[in-house]
Amino acid sequence: MAQIIDGRAVAAEVTDRVGAAADTLKTEAGTQPGLAVVIVGDDPASKVYVASKGRTARACGFLSVEHTLPEETGQAALLGLIDDLNSDPAIHGILVQLPLPDHIDEGAVIQAIAPDKDVDGFHFINVGKLGTGVTDSAFVPCTPAGSMLLIDTVLGKDLSGKNAVIVGRSNIVGKPMFNLLLSANATVTVAHSRTADLPALCRTADILVAAVGRPQMIKGDWIKPGATVIDVGINRIPAPEKGEGKTRLVGDVDFESAAETAGAITPVPRGVGPMTIAMLMVNTIVAAYRAAGRVPPDF
Ligand code: GUN
Repeated sequence: MAQIIDGRAVAAEVTDRVGAAADTLKTEAGTQPGLAVVIVGDDPASKVYVASKGRTARACGFLSVEHTLPEETGQAALLGLIDDLNSDPAIHGILVQLPLPDHIDEGAVIQAIAPDKDVDGFHFINVGKLGTGVTDSAFVPCTPAGSMLLIDTVLGKDLSGKNAVIVGRSNIVGKPMFNLLLSANATVTVAHSRTADLPALCRTADILVAAVGRPQMIKGDWIKPGATVIDVGINRIPAPEKGEGKTRLVGDVDFESAAETAGAITPVPRGVGPMTIAMLMVNTIVAAYRAAGRVPPDF
């Protein structure tokens, strides 16, 4: 049976350190870190994530500002709000919750965020820095950054000689994860829906990262014995065993069968999910330190 990687515990340690760093910044520079989260529309899952981000930010001692805009908000109005937040000295991090409604150009919104407040790490400047290894001043997307910390708890920081397979090529997870694993000296393959014989490829992975958004797609017999499995998926499926109309969360990995073969595996929930929020706090405190002209601590 695999070691279950406790993302909630690792995330709690990270947010404790962020809270301590926030205290230091307040005492020494008189700066309170400020995070603004913008949500457009009523997507229930997005609302849950945004509420959780606000709660954690307050627990870290941050100023937490939430802008909830109606579904029919126009692009110009959203860009106007981002302009205001870009020039607000009390705000160090800006996150616009995705997905946005179809009538808004997501790319235009992301590129409107000032790169030094882009705590999602989605702006071209930050993507380019990560891709060229300029990691000391880049903001790294939160889910991949959190996944790397979880891998670190099992395998350490140097992944020399390890084969990593990422299933999924999204801008939010797959592509930044590729860069982070490569920077850690892993040999990395990015698989996707057009990959031939995905099960055989997954069986070559010492590190398997699942980020496809398909419930329980990756089965136990796709896992190399002893592999470290990072399940980024958060999928809601019917759970009639809990009662009529009830649902439960599962990952992209079939946990029961995978845990028999893997060396270590993240559960869903309480795996990667809490790390995403913890790394948002890290990026925000880092932004606040930089804005105050100070060198942020390492996390
Ligand atoms: N929606 C799902 N994941 C994310 C994320 O990491 N950042 C933002 N802004 N929206 C998301």
